[in-house]
Amino acid sequence: MPPVKGQSLRINLNRLLERINELAEIGAIDGGGVCRMALSDEDRRGRDRVVGWMRELGLDISVDRIGNVIAIRRGTEPGDPVLTGSHIDTVATGGRFDGTLGVLAGLEVIATLNQADLTTRIPIGVGFFTNEEGARFAPDMMGSAVHQGVFDVEEMLEVVGTDGLILGDALDNTGYAGEAPTGSFHAECFIELHIEQGPVLENEGYEIGAVESVQGISWTEYRLTGVSNHAGTTPMHLRHDAGYVAAAIAVEARRIAGEMGGDQVATVGVSTLNPGLVNVIAKEALVTVDLRNTSEAKLQQAEHRMAEFVAKICEDEGLSFTSRSLARFKPVKFDPGMIALVADTATSLGYKTRRMPSGAGHDAQMFAPNCPTAMIFVPSRDGISHNVAEFTEAEHIRAGANVLLQLMLQKSA
Ligand code: GLV
Ligand code: MN
Ligand code: MN
Repeated sequence: MPPVKGQSLRINLNRLLERINELAEIGAIDGGGVCRMALSDEDRRGRDRVVGWMRELGLDISVDRIGNVIAIRRGTEPGDPVLTGSHIDTVATGGRFDGTLGVLAGLEVIATLNQADLTTRIPIGVGFFTNEEGARFAPDMMGSAVHQGVFDVEEMLEVVGTDGLILGDALDNTGYAGEAPTGSFHAECFIELHIEQGPVLENEGYEIGAVESVQGISWTEYRLTGVSNHAGTTPMHLRHDAGYVAAAIAVEARRIAGEMGGDQVATVGVSTLNPGLVNVIAKEALVTVDLRNTSEAKLQQAEHRMAEFVAKICEDEGLSFTSRSLARFKPVKFDPGMIALVADTATSLGYKTRRMPSGAGHDAQMFAPNCPTAMIFVPSRDGISHNVAEFTEAEHIRAGANVLLQLMLQKSA
C-alpha cells in the first residue's frame, strides 16, 4: 500500500455497530430481521434516520428525482468524489446487513476522518440508492441504474408495484422525490462494501472478498390462464390446470440449472394460484423465474429453454399465457486496477483475502461502465441472506470497513 495520509487510521467498530442496530429497529421483524421494502413507510423512516446522521457529519446532501441520496464531504480541491454506498431497502424477509452495511460503513469512514480532522484532497461521498431489491417494484438496482443513466427516470417513476401502487406516488409519499438530475453524476471511482450473501468466504476461511464480477440476472413473470373446475368431477385429461403448469415451471427451472451445471442458478420465488382453494382447479397462476449465470451466452441459453418449455406445456394443457421481463442485466466485470487495490489493501491490513464473483446483484454494477468500480465482500454466517437469520461477525464488519476506509483514503489522496 503506498503511504497516504491516514494510513494508520481505523474505524470505530462500536459506533458502526450501534448505527447498524439502530437502523435495524426501523421495520424490525421477528428473528432479528428487517422488513423495509422500497418506498414503504419503514423505508421513509430509515431514510430519515440515515439522512439525520449525514447531517450530523456535516455532509452536503442531495436527493435526486428517484430518491437516491448522495452525501459529499468536501476535499481540499474540487473534483468528482470517491464514492461509496449501497441501499437501505430490504426484501420483506430481510436481514440487517444486506445493503445497510455498505451505507453505514461509508458513514463510519466519514466519522473516522472527521474525528481525525483529516481532509482528503478530492471529495469523498456516501450514497444510498432507491429500490435496490426490486422485490416490490421491478427491476432491482433501479435507483443506481437511473443514477448512472442506465434507465430512464420517467419510465421508472411509472413502474407499478406488486401492491398496485405506482412508484412515483410511493416516492412522493416518502417525501424523497428530490430535484437533483439523474443520469449525469460522475464519480472518480465507486467502491461498495457488502456482505457476501453466500457461503464461500466462511467455508474457505477468508475474511475479505475482492469482487471481480457480478453474474447476469434475468427475471421473467408468467401469467397463466386456464379454467377453474371441480377437483372431484373433472377427469384428468379434461383439465386446464394453471396450478399444474406453475408447478411444472418450477420443476423445469431446477432441471435446467441442474443440466446446465456450472454457475447456472434458477429460482421460482413467486407462485400464486387463483382462486387457491383445496377443491378447485386453479384458473390462474402468477409465476416468476429468476435465472442467473456469469456467462451471457449461457444465460441466454437458459432463458430460451425456459421460454420454449412454458410455451409447450401451456399448449399441451390448453392454457394461455403472457410473459413479461421484470429485470435483465448482463454479467458485469469490475475494473482490474480497483480489484487489485481491494485485494492488496485487504492483504496489507492482515486480512485473508480471495478474489471472487458475486452471485447477487449490486448497485456497484451500475457504476462499472462509467468509472473504475469494485466491491469488498465480508463473510455471511452459514451463507444465509434474504432471511432474518442473516449475520456477519463484528470482526468481519471491522475488517470490511477498515478496507473501505483505506481504499477511500488512497483513491482521494
Ligand atoms: C438483488 O439484490 C438480487 O441480487 O436479487
Ligand atoms: Mn444488497
Ligand atoms: Mn438483497
